[in-house]
Amino acid sequence: MTEPDGKPFLYVVVCAAGIAVDVSKLITAAQERAWEVGVIATPVAMGGFFDTAAVETQTGRPIRSAWRSPGDPRPFPPPDAVVVAPATFNTVNKWAAGLADTLAVATLCETYGLGVPVVVLPCVSDALAAHPAYQDSLVRLRGMGVRFGEPYSGEPEPGRERPEFGWERALDLLER
Ligand SMILES: Cc1cc2nc3c(=O)[nH]c(=O)nc-3n(C[C@H](O)[C@H](O)[C@H](O)COP(=O)(O)O)c2cc1C
Repeated sequence: MTEPDGKPFLYVVVCAAGIAVDVSKLITAAQERAWEVGVIATPVAMGGFFDTAAVETQTGRPIRSAWRSPGDPRPFPPPDAVVVAPATFNTVNKWAAGLADTLAVATLCETYGLGVPVVVLPCVSDALAAHPAYQDSLVRLRGMGVRFGEPYSGEPEPGRERPEFGWERALDLLER
């Protein structure tokens, strides 16, 4: 739902991949493109994968990770769009299978019914990405209209640093 100030609302779903340490880059880029941002993180991602206090300051909202109590108001408005970055092997497979055991995956499972655009930037090693279940998950999610960024393993080329994750790819794919 568009916020009272006229800005569309973007959910950024953060999974427990090492590259999540830089998720503030995505939030900054989204805010510069006039998105209001709310972050939903997996429980594992909340355990030291990124600076949660800094992200809450940056977005001006608490990070959501657990379900609210019945009777509590919904902390975020409904999304106009959703970005999953970084997306782990685990969350991609659970989402495709419809296993809604974390707020993050449950939120992703709902997006199909809501009909909002969803973009995923996976961060999955080549070894894990070779698993047939992962390949099946990609086919299924693409068939649901989910847009994927190029594969990113996070593994440096021999003698080089880890390649840039390219956070803005998510916004480019969203707005294409
Ligand atoms: C330091 C560290 C880095 C990790 N990086 C990745 C990663 O890049 N991609 C991935 O799929 N899993 C990665 N994992 C494994 C996930 O954290 C693990 O599968 C976890 O259960 C994922 O939970 P989530 O999908 O609910 O966030 C990493 C684990 C650790 C400890």
